[in-house]
Amino acid sequence: MRIGITTGGGDAPGLNAVIRAAVKTAIRQYHWQVLGIEQGFLGLIDTSHVRELTESSVRGILPRGGTILGTTNRGNPFEYQYKEMDGSTKVVDLSDKCMDNFETLGLNALICIGGDGTMAIAQKFYEKGMPVVGVPKTIDNDLAATDVTFGFRTAVSIAMEALDRLHTTAESHNRTMVLEVMGRDAGWIALDAGIAGGADLILMPEIPYDVEGALKHIKRRYARGSKFSIAVVAEQAEPENQEEHGFELRRKSDTCGSWFANKVEDELGFETRNIVLGHIQRGGSPVSFDRVLGSRFGVYAAHMVAQQKFGRMAILQGRNLNDVSLSETAGKQKLVDPEAELIKTAESLGIFCGRPLQYS
Ligand code: F6P
Repeated sequence: MRIGITTGGGDAPGLNAVIRAAVKTAIRQYHWQVLGIEQGFLGLIDTSHVRELTESSVRGILPRGGTILGTTNRGNPFEYQYKEMDGSTKVVDLSDKCMDNFETLGLNALICIGGDGTMAIAQKFYEKGMPVVGVPKTIDNDLAATDVTFGFRTAVSIAMEALDRLHTTAESHNRTMVLEVMGRDAGWIALDAGIAGGADLILMPEIPYDVEGALKHIKRRYARGSKFSIAVVAEQAEPENQEEHGFELRRKSDTCGSWFANKVEDELGFETRNIVLGHIQRGGSPVSFDRVLGSRFGVYAAHMVAQQKFGRMAILQGRNLNDVSLSETAGKQKLVDPEAELIKTAESLGIFCGRPLQYS
């Protein structure tokens, strides 16, 4: 028996823990051969970089960020972007080529570790007859079905540390600091990091925010003697009544965080700085939670292959691992519920979360 492993989409701390655990289980428990497919599904289009993964090739990778297999978020073989000689782009379907290469490599199954995009592609390959199992990954924590994805806790810790550091400089200079964090469609990182880092405002895509309310919150803090404020802004956090407030990101360098920072400075006259944390949240060593969850997912994925649970994705439900059909989760996101206990907790702590606070 020979299985393949691939990592797709943006990287997340903990990917190597999954690879290591799946390889160890496959070799020790099942005596399978494991092939590493590099650069996500691109590695099935061009197989020249496929390599065998042995126990020695995964030795020492547990604390390492990134993925030893490389990854890409531009590697959909069903809509492969092909550059013509004249510079134009043609979209071609190379999925049959991947199916052929899968056969030629002698693979019996493929473990796909990735986010929503990777899982959607995995599902399509499954429908074409490829025996795939999925492992959910994203720092954004917005994948449906699983309670948590690995990478999220590391990203939150990094954002929290940034907030701790920003606090001391904000306080020394009486400034408003705006920390923009990742989370393409979801505010999970902003919310967790904001609570853990003692932010004064948390703005996220799920709650289009009241601009006047946010400014009033900062002004009230000032009047009460806290001459600095810390705001965490998710990368897609937008205000309500956008036209009225002239919300527009005109240049490539404009971000939701910088728009809010400018608003604070222009309307309140408070010196403000915008900090975009960006890919720092994705890089580096995973925290213990992500190493453990990644390891559990890797072992579980190998067991899923052994049990022929193809077309399914591993998930964490409460404290236990389980699996769901890929078709059930495809295209579904897990967003922050504005009425969730966590938002109410933040509001009880006096954190402005985009809407008027009941107790201020
Ligand atoms: O989905 C994970 C994520 O890190 C998002 O939070 C962010 O919007 C996006 O990926 C960034 O992608 P890229 O690596 O292509 O800049």
